[in-house]
Amino acid sequence: MEKPIMLALDFADFKQVEQFLESFSNPGDLTVKIGMELFYQSGPQVVKTLKARGCKIFLDLKLFDIPHTVEKSMERIGELGVDYVTAHTLGGSEMLTAAKRGLIAGAKRVNQPVPDLLGVTILTSCSKETLANELNCKLAMADQVVSLAKLAKQSGCDGVITSALELPMLTKEVGTDFKYVVPGIRMKQDAVGDQKRVATPEIAKQTGAFAIVVGRPVTQSENPVAAYRRYRANWNLEGE
Ligand code: C5P
Repeated sequence: MEKPIMLALDFADFKQVEQFLESFSNPGDLTVKIGMELFYQSGPQVVKTLKARGCKIFLDLKLFDIPHTVEKSMERIGELGVDYVTAHTLGGSEMLTAAKRGLIAGAKRVNQPVPDLLGVTILTSCSKETLANELNCKLAMADQVVSLAKLAKQSGCDGVITSALELPMLTKEVGTDFKYVVPGIRMKQDAVGDQKRVATPEIAKQTGAFAIVVGRPVTQSENPVAAYRRYRANWNLEGE
């Protein structure tokens, strides 16, 4: 199975999504990520519309609340028939197991496969200075990410969101039987923006990523299809 590029549809409304997808010849082949910006404007309908077109869907709402609220919210999400969802590992094991329980219950109700639950570790926009000085974390970045990934695995997550920089340690200490999904992906010539822990698709692949997330370098490009192909070629070197 080809490892996915998850294209972050960080647009303000569905009209902009339509315009963006029109330039692709087979948009139904894409794996798309619907995040807070689009979901808060367009709601579950955007998920249903893109799913009906054949896209694989990563619904990235990064749930972080008390276990009961997360469980009930994940039940609703499980009913949407998406492929991947997220919750913050900082919510702890009780919240993560509740998230999984909710997803299973929701998916079962509508007879859909259970989405993969991905635990967000430390955001790729967080630097080691922020981790140490603002979050007062005593561990080094990679140790903290590994610790949260272990917690995620023990709590029933199917994988984690991580930067590529921690992948060598993750594959060694948490294992290769876990899905590592990597945002903060940039080719050398592209603007980094607010991301701090960045890597190229090729590096992410070589160090063990299951999937990469790419947003602005494609969505804000003057030629999104060409930009997507550039990232895809670098990610899937043997396939293009
Ligand atoms: O535009 P860019 O390529 O930086 O987009 C990255 C996407 O991945 C955004 O939608 C962001 O919400 C998401 N993301 C991230 N870091 C995480 C988890 C998700 O950048 N740890």
